[in-house]
Amino acid sequence: MQTLKKIKAKNKKVLVRVDFNVPIENDKIQDTFRIDKALPTIEFLVKQKAKVILLAHLGEDGTQSLVPIAKYLNKKIKTVFLPTTNLKDIEELVEKMVGGDVVLLENIRRFKGEKENDTVLARSLSRLGDFYVNDAFSVSHRKHASVVGIAKHLPLFAGLQLELEIKNLSKVLEPKHPFLFILGGAKFSTKLPLLKKYLESADSVFIGGALANNALKSAGFEVGESLVDDGFEVPKNILKHKNFFLPMDVVVEENNESHTCTVAETTETEKIVDIGASTVKEILALAKSSKLVVWNGPLGFYEHGYDKATKDLLKGLAKLEKTEVIIGGGDTVTLVQKMKLTDKFTFVSTGGGATLEFLVKGTLVGIDVLK
Ligand code: 3PG
Repeated sequence: MQTLKKIKAKNKKVLVRVDFNVPIENDKIQDTFRIDKALPTIEFLVKQKAKVILLAHLGEDGTQSLVPIAKYLNKKIKTVFLPTTNLKDIEELVEKMVGGDVVLLENIRRFKGEKENDTVLARSLSRLGDFYVNDAFSVSHRKHASVVGIAKHLPLFAGLQLELEIKNLSKVLEPKHPFLFILGGAKFSTKLPLLKKYLESADSVFIGGALANNALKSAGFEVGESLVDDGFEVPKNILKHKNFFLPMDVVVEENNESHTCTVAETTETEKIVDIGASTVKEILALAKSSKLVVWNGPLGFYEHGYDKATKDLLKGLAKLEKTEVIIGGGDTVTLVQKMKLTDKFTFVSTGGGATLEFLVKGTLVGIDVLK
């Protein structure tokens, strides 16, 4: 894979796939982490006097416009937004660019064929540039035209953030020991491959969030009204694995009131909404004696304000000096940002689903095509 440092981009048109898929409410960006992490690559190319053409998506289906993103980006680095999906018009505008200019195209998922990896779209997009740079690790698990198809037609480079993601997440594939893996969030079935893999390669795997509810239920505990990935039975060999750990105490809610109890004390009318303080203490003790800690997914019902355990654990992990701590993307990252702890960790991934897939497979389609 060619790194960006090798590019000779003066006055060349460089297509850069970035991931600006960030949460937006009332036209206001809630978390700029992904955009900020793409800036070093854009600045590097601007410094070389390249003509930078940014390709990005927002939302699943392309209905959202990139206008709020363009406004934010323009405050960081002078950017012209091209509010059209007409490729002929775009080509004309691109021809007028001079070295050091940056343009951002409208939501790439509005272009017909993006999600289908359409060959015509891939070729048309490639005609806009002399080089292609992928700096969008977090969408590199998608076989889309701007991620995979386009790569057939141009000289290829890995962006600076993509390189950092691969370098740091690869540490998890060949881990230092003792190694603690913390997995939260929901949807047990989608996280099963990750769990299976890390039960073998980590020394301890701790499960929190709604994932733990499934495991507690399968282990015969009462989980009452708790959120569970319905119908999914956690296999016995996982529940009995020597490296598998579940919470000992939990926060339960009933009629908008909550209290902490042991997992055995949950009643059938209660709902588990967070892990308890004793469990957080246990995880921190385990983390302190580990050389590597990797964490993906919140430990509580975060959307309903139950983020105490997640925050307490983040605060504790941020203080560890001898342990490498990697935060593996998703909702946990938004909290890390809000708490201004990003710099306290070895690495914080920009990916969500992409990070999980990389941690299982060791690569992604969008990375493979760069090789
Ligand atoms: C993400 O947010 O995980 C990436 O931007 C990919 O988005 P997608 O799940 O809509 O493909």
